[in-house]
Amino acid sequence: MQETILVIGSNGQIGTELVSKLRIIYDDSHVIACDIRRPDYDIKNAAPFEFVNVLEKDVLKNIFQKYKPTQVYLLAALLSATGEQNPKLAWDLNMNGLLNVLDLSLEYKTHKVYWPSSIAVFGPHSPKNHTPQYCVMDPNTVYGISKLAGERWCEYYFQKYGLDVRSIRYPGLISWKAAPGGGTTDYAIHIYHDALKKGSYQSFLSGETELPMMYMDDAIRGTIELMDAPAEQISIRSSYNFTGMSFTPETLAAEIKNHIPDFKLSYTPYDPRQAIASSWPASIDDNYAQKDWNWKPQFDLARMTEDMLNNLKK
Ligand code: SER
Repeated sequence: MQETILVIGSNGQIGTELVSKLRIIYDDSHVIACDIRRPDYDIKNAAPFEFVNVLEKDVLKNIFQKYKPTQVYLLAALLSATGEQNPKLAWDLNMNGLLNVLDLSLEYKTHKVYWPSSIAVFGPHSPKNHTPQYCVMDPNTVYGISKLAGERWCEYYFQKYGLDVRSIRYPGLISWKAAPGGGTTDYAIHIYHDALKKGSYQSFLSGETELPMMYMDDAIRGTIELMDAPAEQISIRSSYNFTGMSFTPETLAAEIKNHIPDFKLSYTPYDPRQAIASSWPASIDDNYAQKDWNWKPQFDLARMTEDMLNNLKK
């Protein structure tokens, strides 16, 4: 069957790489990139392209009408740090954007919908280590609250209306192609840039703050593997725990020193992102993803660091 795929939020950190990958797998003309901004990064992301603000349902509806997509990826969102600066906008975009896409997907009989959740759905009373799929969830950022509510909506549309929605709780995603989007885990990208440019980095998280992370290559592969898995294998319709590795700024700096021996790490005295990071898991148990669709990461800290530095040097 010929797939037609809409990627909404195609110019962001994930969208940039997802569109390139999907355009290798599927015919270019059947992967439609949509964003509120014009693409300026990767030529592969250039066409077909549609301007859309997910909050403008009429405009979005015209795009569904024009392409009749069989798959939709909704990536447009405000992340944890930016969300705290504008809580109402974060709630509006993250929640009503999702509801608009779910409703139009039902109306236009889209076969599969992908929507990302996050480790931000967990909170201070969730188990910190090997956080399980099912546990106390008390997110205290507007981003985390919107992601947890969104997960419930995804499962609701699946159970009530039979919409095939699939989702992953991403950890911090590390990549070199497109800039990160205002998250708490962004330090783990900035550090590589500064290590090469200045030989030093000032971290906004403390040295021992451990967070779950993943290299973008793994994240894109895992996302497409979930979307390709037979529907009967998908036992979770809220969102899957998903992880690649866990590390602290200190361990990341030690790994960078293996390549740049004089690299120096220092810390900012206070940053509001520390409180967000401290409320999140240090590591994630993703055994459902392993069991249901054979999830297995390929990048550990050493391999990721080598790949990041090599690509950023170019
Ligand atoms: N990387 C995201 C953030 O820090 C977590 O989903 O906001």
